[in-house]
Amino acid sequence: MRTLTLTFLSSLLGVALLNSCGSNQENKQKAMIEKSAFGTTADGQAADLYTLRNAEGMEARITNFGGVIVSLTAPDRNGNYQDVTLGFDSLASYEKGSPYFGSLIGRYGNRIAKGRFTLDGKQYTLATNNMGNHLHGGIKGFDKVIWNAQPIEGEEPALKLTYTSKDGEEGYPGNLAVEVTYTLQKDNSLKIDYKATTDKPTVVNLTNHSYFNLAGKGDILGHELTLNADRFLPVDQTLIPTGELKPVAGTVFDFTKSTPMGARINDSTDTQIKYGLGYDHAWVFSDTSNTLKQVATVYEPTTGRVMEVSTTEPAIQFYTGNFLDGTLTGKGGVTYAKRTGFCLETEHYPDSPNLPKFPSTTLRPGETYQSTTIYTFSARK
Ligand code: GLA
Repeated sequence: MRTLTLTFLSSLLGVALLNSCGSNQENKQKAMIEKSAFGTTADGQAADLYTLRNAEGMEARITNFGGVIVSLTAPDRNGNYQDVTLGFDSLASYEKGSPYFGSLIGRYGNRIAKGRFTLDGKQYTLATNNMGNHLHGGIKGFDKVIWNAQPIEGEEPALKLTYTSKDGEEGYPGNLAVEVTYTLQKDNSLKIDYKATTDKPTVVNLTNHSYFNLAGKGDILGHELTLNADRFLPVDQTLIPTGELKPVAGTVFDFTKSTPMGARINDSTDTQIKYGLGYDHAWVFSDTSNTLKQVATVYEPTTGRVMEVSTTEPAIQFYTGNFLDGTLTGKGGVTYAKRTGFCLETEHYPDSPNLPKFPSTTLRPGETYQSTTIYTFSARK
């Protein structure tokens, strides 16, 4: 009798396992990439939207207008996929005025003091589009141009974007040929590979400016951040680095242990917090080599979502969406109030062309600028 029940129970168990595997297999989707129209720019250029999906069901929607990541889904602890980025539903909204939601940034990401730098004895003048400084490539940076797009099918669908920034564009020297490839990988990560070559000495600092909210709503103050960086770059009142590399130990900039983003964000006794209106600073990694290293982890406790960031870049700008002010209406009619999104922009140091002790951002003919960043998503039970 007992053996009979045991065999019956074990066969029951067998079936359950099969089913769960079955259902996992069933949940497995066909990886794909498909193209759809996204609209026409004010100057009459067609923009397209590419939807990439992996077998797990993660989905990225990317447009060749500014290489913008329009949406990116990630699983919560119950396996539900939801969009974890900020952005707009229409091309017109991106063109009209986006605080760089999901955009590719260049030719030089972040700031260059007073819009000026000297290279090989020659001074270059750039637009001063932010507090008297140059920000994110100028008036019409890489975030506002149409890129050539090549979809790549496969188990890990990819989108290769290319753009040639002409000699003198936004004041920069050299024809710069840029190639950025987004790959949606099997392990629920989005890999971004950057490459560039030039025909004249120039400066290059490319990044992606996605705003994340792993809860998909509300503010990001409860998100728990770990940054593998023991120094950061203090800035002046216009957010230009002073040149100092300051240890984070004992300061509100210490995220070497997992800490809620909002725990110390309003510490008005801290000058740097005052200047940044919160966090809007570059953290620098002790390993400045061009190797891929894990640099940040974000855990969102209400959903269990986790985002890990790895990069070959020597620094990361942690920005807590301090300039969002509720005037922008985003996807699904949501208004974006202050600190409803955070950015982790992997980069070379801000204003490096004017600060020789910072890792160089100069690119010369015959050299290839290469950089990789990976955002990996998972969930904790
Ligand atoms: C970067 C800058 C911020 C802000 C945003 C865009 O993150 O560091 O100061 O300009 O871009 O709004």
